[in-house]
Amino acid sequence: MDNIVLIGYMGCGKTTVGIRLSYCLKIPLVDTDKLIEKSEDREISRIFAEDGEEAFRWMETDTLRRLLQEKTGKVISTGGGLPVREENRRLLKLLGTVIYLKAEPETIYERVRGDTKRPLLQCRDPLTRIREMMAKRSRCYEDAADVVIQVDGKDFDTIIQEIEERVK
Ligand code: S3P
Repeated sequence: MDNIVLIGYMGCGKTTVGIRLSYCLKIPLVDTDKLIEKSEDREISRIFAEDGEEAFRWMETDTLRRLLQEKTGKVISTGGGLPVREENRRLLKLLGTVIYLKAEPETIYERVRGDTKRPLLQCRDPLTRIREMMAKRSRCYEDAADVVIQVDGKDFDTIIQEIEERVK
């Protein structure tokens, strides 16, 4: 079986969808953020603070390259900024079927407000930040995706069902 790769902006539901998909399909789940935190033995917020975003982006590319060497048949959940790099979009395509969980900025804002773990959203006006970043990134997500799932207003069961139908 091919890998199923989940992409999308922070808070679009990649982690929860990943957990549920892996359970329903009985296949393992890996998460690029968690793999990086494990190999660095530091949280993402610390990596950003100590080494900067650019260094983190390299770690994401390295992680994709490593996953490409491994056996397929996994759900792979990715960090929200990972598809912004062209090289990463190329590697994503090689990794498996890429599912973009697409959400409106307001949906994202509701899910991530109060979150302190995401360094890029620690600012005075997160909604404006989300709108600006999504405007810049949406092309990258669309380009990388094989399947686009609109998630606004849908519960997780519906989202999982739609993904299962589209990857059959
Ligand atoms: C980021 C998203 C985060 C994490 C890092 C940067 C981004 O992952 O990789 O904080 O640039 O959008 P999630 O999408 O899992 O929050």
